[in-house]
Order: sequence, then C-alpha cells, then structure tokens
Amino acid sequence: MTNRPDLPPEIARRRTFAIISHPDAGKTTLTEKFLLYGGAIQMAGQVRAKGEARRTRSDFMKMEQERGISVSASAMSFDFDGYRFNLVDTPGHSDFSEDTYRTLTAVDAAIMVIDGAKGVESQTRKLFEVCRLRDLPILTFCNKMDRESRDTFEIIDEIQENLAIDVAPASWPIGVGRDFIGCYDMLHDRLELMDRADRNKVAESVKMQGLDDPRLAEHVPAGLLDKLRDEVGMARELLPAFDRQSFLEGHMTPIWFGSAINSFGVQELMKGISAYGPPPQPQNAAERQIAPEENPVTGFVFKVQANMDPKHRDRVAFVRLASGHFERGMKLTHVRSKKPMAVTNPVLFLAADRELAEEAWAGDIIGIPNHGQLRIGDALTEGEALRFTGIPSFAPELLQSVRATDPMKAKHLEKALMQFAEEGAAKVFKPMIGSGFIVGVVGALQFEVLASRIEIEYGIPVRFESSQFTSARWVAGPRDKVEAFVNVNKGHIAQDHDGDMVYLTRLQWDIDRVQRDHPDLRLTATKEMM
Ligand code: G4P
Repeated sequence: MTNRPDLPPEIARRRTFAIISHPDAGKTTLTEKFLLYGGAIQMAGQVRAKGEARRTRSDFMKMEQERGISVSASAMSFDFDGYRFNLVDTPGHSDFSEDTYRTLTAVDAAIMVIDGAKGVESQTRKLFEVCRLRDLPILTFCNKMDRESRDTFEIIDEIQENLAIDVAPASWPIGVGRDFIGCYDMLHDRLELMDRADRNKVAESVKMQGLDDPRLAEHVPAGLLDKLRDEVGMARELLPAFDRQSFLEGHMTPIWFGSAINSFGVQELMKGISAYGPPPQPQNAAERQIAPEENPVTGFVFKVQANMDPKHRDRVAFVRLASGHFERGMKLTHVRSKKPMAVTNPVLFLAADRELAEEAWAGDIIGIPNHGQLRIGDALTEGEALRFTGIPSFAPELLQSVRATDPMKAKHLEKALMQFAEEGAAKVFKPMIGSGFIVGVVGALQFEVLASRIEIEYGIPVRFESSQFTSARWVAGPRDKVEAFVNVNKGHIAQDHDGDMVYLTRLQWDIDRVQRDHPDLRLTATKEMM
C-alpha cells in the first residue's frame, strides 16, 4: 500500500472503500450521513429506513424484489471536497459474509465502525481479519458517543490488543453520554462542538492554539476541560502519533470519535479519508501487477447481481476498474471467453439513482448489465490476457440437497441453480452418483432466500432437505492423482458449477484421513475464482 504522488489527478482523487462493522454499530446511519455530505441525498433517512441487522426475512425478500434499492446500495459514488468517493456496501448480516469478503477485494481501504459501549464485536473482528489478509488500511470510527460509552483509553486498548494494530487518536471525545459535547481534533488542534438540536447540522469548529488556549474554557465546562487536558496529555505520551505510512501499510489505524446519528465526527472522518486514505492501488494478476495509471483499461468482476428485474433475465456485473480511463461504448475483451464485449450501457450508482457512466477511472466501480457472460473473477481488458487473483470462493459451511416439488421441472431447476452459482449466491454441487443437487451456503438464511428466489424468478417451487454430507472440500493436485482419487471415491465426489472436483463428507476425520493417505492431494476450503 503506497501513496503515489505521480498518479494522474483524476485517479489520485479517488477513494474506494467499504465500511465494516458488527450489526447495529451504525453503518447504515454513517452511510447515510456520507451521502448527505456528498450531496447525493437531500435528507437523511432516504437510503433505507432500517439497518440490515433488524431486517426480517420478509424485509429482505421485499428488498430483493425491489432490487433497485439493494443494487444502488451495492456501490455508491459521490463527491466530497474535490474527492470522488466510491463506497462499496458490505452486507451486514453474517449470513452473507462470503459476499462481504469478495467486496473487500474491490476496495483500497475500509472504515471500521464500532459502538463505543460495545467495543470490538465478533463480526467486526472477522471482517478485520479479512482486511488484514489484504493489508487494507483501516480508519476507525467509534460511534454512539452520545450514549454511555466505555472509557476512551479502554476502547483504544481493546482495539490494540484484540486486533493487534496500533491505534492513533485523530480526535479525543469530551465528556460522554449526556455530557458529550464534542471532540478535540488532535491532528489540527481544533475544537469540534456537537449541535444536539439539529441532527443534520455540521458541527461548529473552533481553531485552538493547543490545549492551553484560554478560549477552550469558553466552550468546555471546567470539569471536562481538566479531564480533557489530562487525557490528551496522557494519550500523546502513551499512544503512537498518527503515521500515514504505517496506516497505509495496515499497521496503524487512526480513530475518530463521534455520533453518526447526530452527524457528529462524520465530516472529520470524511476529511481523514480524503487527506490520508489511499488512492487506487495496483492490483495483482497472475501474470503481473497492474498499476492504476496504465493507459489500457482493465478491471475485474467482484460481484454479480442477477434478475434485478424478474421480467428480464438481466444481471449486473460489478466491475472494479484496475487501470485506465474507461469511456462508454468501449470494446473490451472478456478474457475468459476471449470474446470482445462492447460496453454500451455501463452504470454508475449515485445513491438512489442509476446513471449511465459516460466515463470512469481506475478505482471506480461500474455496473455492466449482461446476460450471464460475466462471472465473479472475470477480467475485462483491452486485449491482454490477465487473470486477477485474490478473489476467494469459500467452502460452504451448510449443505442441503434440493429438488423441485414438480419432477417435470428438474431440468429447469438445474439451470436456475447454475445461475445462482455463477452469481456467487450459493455453491451448487452435482454428485457423481445419483441425481439431484447439493447446495452449499455460508449462512442458514440463504436457503430460504434461495428457495424464494427460485420460485419467484424461475417459477419452480423447491424443497431443501438435509443432506447426508456436511462438509465440502475442493480436491487439488496433479491431474492423474485427482482422477485416481475420484475413481475410488465416487460416492463422495461431486462437481461444482465450474466442473471442479469436490470431496463431500460428514466427518472432519475423513478429511484428515484423505490428507494423510494422499500426500499429493490438497483438500482446500477456498478456491480462487478466475
Ligand atoms: P447498522 O447499519 O450497523 O446495523 O446500524 P444502524 O445505522 O441501523 O444503527 C443501529 C441503531 O443505532 C439505530 O437505532 C440507529 O438509530 C442507532 N444509532 C446509530 N448511530 C447512533 C449514534 O450516534 N447514537 C445513538 N444514540 N444511536 C445511534 P434503532 O433504534 O435500532 O433504530 P431507529 O429507530 O433509531 O432507526
């Protein structure tokens, strides 16, 4: 992760990031405030009425049917302070974590939102680990300071210890809960005061000459002021100062304190992303590394959303541009099929509206409507045969067999399942012995969502039933060894939608045994999608 002073200005001003958090920490509220300050919406409350966490299954279905909303929320672009922000949404529900992991391959940085009273929660930790695998720089926003929160040092200690990352305070909260009045901006020696009366108003900012500035007393009650001076003094002594290089390398996270619902601290965080966040970074392909400033346009698909309009079988492939300056109508090569593809109607997602993307630059996310040619992991280039690496496919944690309640529809079911597999919504395995399919997902809710989508989008009522298998592992190794293994284990072998061999079992013991008896083979829980 580097800062590249030599990037063309259009690329250098782009900031492509995701927000990671545990459900309920305030991601939706923060997103909304971003869009508000980015001028993308007029009033908070327009994006979605409710956070992902409390969405019931039926809410989710409705949202799926009204795909417009969830699609525009998948990637949002807006301008702030001369910067172009591309915010890529990560579904908050733990059932959709695989999608989230893939989303994180398309961003250059992440904002970690934590609840000031709860600290680092389980989902935050999981997502943080994924960011760490990719050395993504992380900015931290400690939310809900208007409520009773933990002691500031305690929160910082917890992040440092739990996530093994240095934490540098960018701001320091003054008071807590009902007494919370704002923050001292430690990077600019400013006082930021919260206006509780108007939730959509930008905080008042007062420039200070350090902590001894007598004007501090005009704004901060005496008791809080003494505490602030003590704490900031201690923080400056005990905690590391913000170091941009260390942040860009993923070793340090700056933390801002605030209250998203009161719009407090949000602008400071946005300015932090602009000033310190990374511009579009080089992307890795199997062949070489692609630098964003290279002239030829390249990009990769990290997400596919199918059947956005059930009447038309269209899909939108979300493409992260890795290099170049894209213009509408360009002919790109779809590397997997080696076929040219004229990109005539790409879309950019500006909050609630889809707009035709006349142009886009490295770092941007564009949506390309297509009829199923574009799959997760696919590369688009101006001719070069590239395979982008690092987009993982995870072994599902739950397996069920599925059949159409009407046996006449079995053939159609296969088609529907393959489409969902390509979309990345589920893993679909066709066992070598017997008919039928086994579907694998990461979270139980996905079975219900799938059943409903297969019925709504394809008109096929289906039943999911428990499967005799509980684990799936891809079989990798020299071709002859894989074939020999497959031949004697047919009862345990299935093919995924790409035709790759998968070993199915009930027992971890089986997996260990295969590994022991077949040292040439690897049973893997992830496979890279290419
Ligand atoms: P999520 O997307 O991370 O799941 O969180 P979301 O923004 O939906 O926020 C979860 C709850 O926390 C919501 O309350 C939201 O209003 C509240 N919240 C967000 N930011 C703050 C903050 O800075 N301070 C306080 N006090 N609360 C905050 P809810 O009661 O579940 O929903 P609602 O009835 O308020 O909409």
